Amino acid sequence: LSKQDFAGRLIAWQAGHGRHDLPWQHSREPYRVWLSEIMLQQTQVDTVIPYYLRFLTRFPALADLAGAPQEAVLGLWSGLGYYARARNLHKAAQVVMAEHGGQFPRRAEDIARLPGIGRSTAAAIAAFCFGERVPILDGNVKRVLCRAFGVDGFPGERAVEQRLWSLAAELLPESGVDTYIQAQMDLGATVCTRTRPACGRCPLADDCVARREERTAELPAARPR
Ligand code: ADE
Repeated sequence: LSKQDFAGRLIAWQAGHGRHDLPWQHSREPYRVWLSEIMLQQTQVDTVIPYYLRFLTRFPALADLAGAPQEAVLGLWSGLGYYARARNLHKAAQVVMAEHGGQFPRRAEDIARLPGIGRSTAAAIAAFCFGERVPILDGNVKRVLCRAFGVDGFPGERAVEQRLWSLAAELLPESGVDTYIQAQMDLGATVCTRTRPACGRCPLADDCVARREERTAELPAARPR
């Protein structure tokens, strides 16, 4: 599978088979995209949607969130779990007000310095909102890459993760990075699932190493024990 083909196929697949009507896809406002990415980190799309909409009704803009008492923020998070996400979100909103004049930073590198935002989430925000050409590498993308290219080893291991970041960077298309990133997320969530992937619906199936070698159940490799 050539590097060019990989992105091209995903972008073409996204048009017909990706998700286009999730509430956060209507906006390129960094505050809204950021909120969705944080909520989606450990929580499924269907669960996130009502929380996301309630949160924005109560805190329509980043300044509203920054000025709210922490109890109000945690209250709106109640039921989503992983409350460190809510505390970091609140803290980061205050940092944006205090240190960035209320303007969300535009470069992935700067976004990644905010509390609770890792390299991949920062890249997703920069790509979706500002069109920056940067790779993402969340759990879904790791799974797609490990299978498509037959990457062995536990992705939580430093060397394997670095290899995946390099691969992700090499695969970036020249243009349409926002669509490409959404395609990777959607393929991982709806087709290249952890258990029982739907290879019959996958645009990469013909060239997928894991499929060819009948190793989709073994890749990505589990934590060594
Ligand atoms: N999971 C993480 N980010 C997502 C997004 N933007 N759309 C759908 N699922 C996601």
